[in-house]
Amino acid sequence: MASFSCSMVIFIVSYLLVVSSNAQLTMNFYSSSCPNLHSTVKSVVQSAINRENRMGASLLRLFFHDCFVNGCDGSLLLDDTSNFTGEKMARPNNGSVRGFEVIDQIKSAVENACPGIVSCADILAITARDSVVTLGGPTWNVKLGRRDARTASQSDANNDIPQPTFSLSQLISSFRNQGLSTTDMVALSGAHTIGQARCTSFRSRIYNESNIDESFAKTRQANCPRASNSGDNNLAPLDLQTPTCFDNDYYKNIINQKGLLHSDQQLSTNALVQTYGGNLGRFYSDFATAMNNMGDIKPLTGSNGEIRKNCRMIN
Ligand code: HEM
Ligand SMILES: *[C@@H]1O[C@H](CO)[C@@H](O)[C@H](O)[C@H]1NC(C)=O
Ligand SMILES: *[C@@H]1O[C@H](CO)[C@@H](O)[C@H](O)[C@H]1NC(C)=O
Ligand SMILES: *[C@@H]1O[C@H](CO)[C@@H](O)[C@H](O)[C@H]1NC(C)=O
Repeated sequence: MASFSCSMVIFIVSYLLVVSSNAQLTMNFYSSSCPNLHSTVKSVVQSAINRENRMGASLLRLFFHDCFVNGCDGSLLLDDTSNFTGEKMARPNNGSVRGFEVIDQIKSAVENACPGIVSCADILAITARDSVVTLGGPTWNVKLGRRDARTASQSDANNDIPQPTFSLSQLISSFRNQGLSTTDMVALSGAHTIGQARCTSFRSRIYNESNIDESFAKTRQANCPRASNSGDNNLAPLDLQTPTCFDNDYYKNIINQKGLLHSDQQLSTNALVQTYGGNLGRFYSDFATAMNNMGDIKPLTGSNGEIRKNCRMIN
């Protein structure tokens, strides 16, 4: 059961979207080979979020950081070894991405149900959707059929994941480089309606920027010291009101100059911020479409890649 539905209003409408721009991925890919896949993933996601309500945000972010580095291919999940350098230690990931042990739990539950069938890349896609739903957000049909990479790239992770210091035009081109539109970018950024950021990610904004609500800046400064290297890992919610509720407060915050990251506040001049801040249904439906678009980034299909047995290592 969804324990973190939004406190003020319960949104009952589900936005079921049937989008198929990538002919290779299909919604029913595992329907005969692993009929219990969806219920298996969902129950592990729900219990992980029940244990720690931030986990839904962390799991959603994993899919983003996987897809933006050479496609949605599970490359993010590979551990470093003495002779292999993966993506986990790249600057946008190190000390920040989390939830890998939940992915392990999901993978082992799925392997018990259908051994050797379901890729780690597809598990990330389903897990992202189930996390959003569990936190009171929209649902959508997830396209499946991705296979897992046998490689990863720390340097591509450093270069291709957008940074919180980015300007609006840098954000737009970072998404355009992945084949995603500005609408996709603004809608997907609404993921920052859940989860937490470290002081190091927003320090310069709360001390140095002028397009920030003054009392909001003061509140955030109280737990994020000015001096770098002190309190770097102190956390603040990306959405100050409801960080475990998938609503449209993110956009309302930007309108009120209460975006936490520099990159968040950069969106303020885009008209969609007003649209999404005033129209929850429009945000939900554009977010769902954009998640499917992001999920279409360069999947490995056919005989490319492999179905990993353990998401942390190649077979
Ligand atoms: C638009 C460009 C984006 C930038 C510059 C950006 C940057 C960041 C940063 C700096 C953090 C905090 C990391 C930390 O301090 O540990 C963060 C957190 C997060 N991001 Fe993004 N992000 C972007 C887009 C996205 C997208 C597209 C998604 C998913 C669809 C997403 C989902 C999240 C979530 C859920 C968190 C919180 C994670 C947690 O609490 O564990 N972000 N992001
Ligand atoms: C790399 O290390 C792993 C153990 O971490 C080992 O199983 C594998 O054979 C090594 N590969 C090469 C090419 O040395
Ligand atoms: C990752 O973060 C740890 C802890 O902050 C740090 O010691 C390490 O040098 C970082 N690794 C890389 C590759 O940046
Ligand atoms: C604020 O900007 C000044 C001047 O660019 C810089 O020296 C300082 O380190 C910045 N402070 C923070 C907390 O980012």
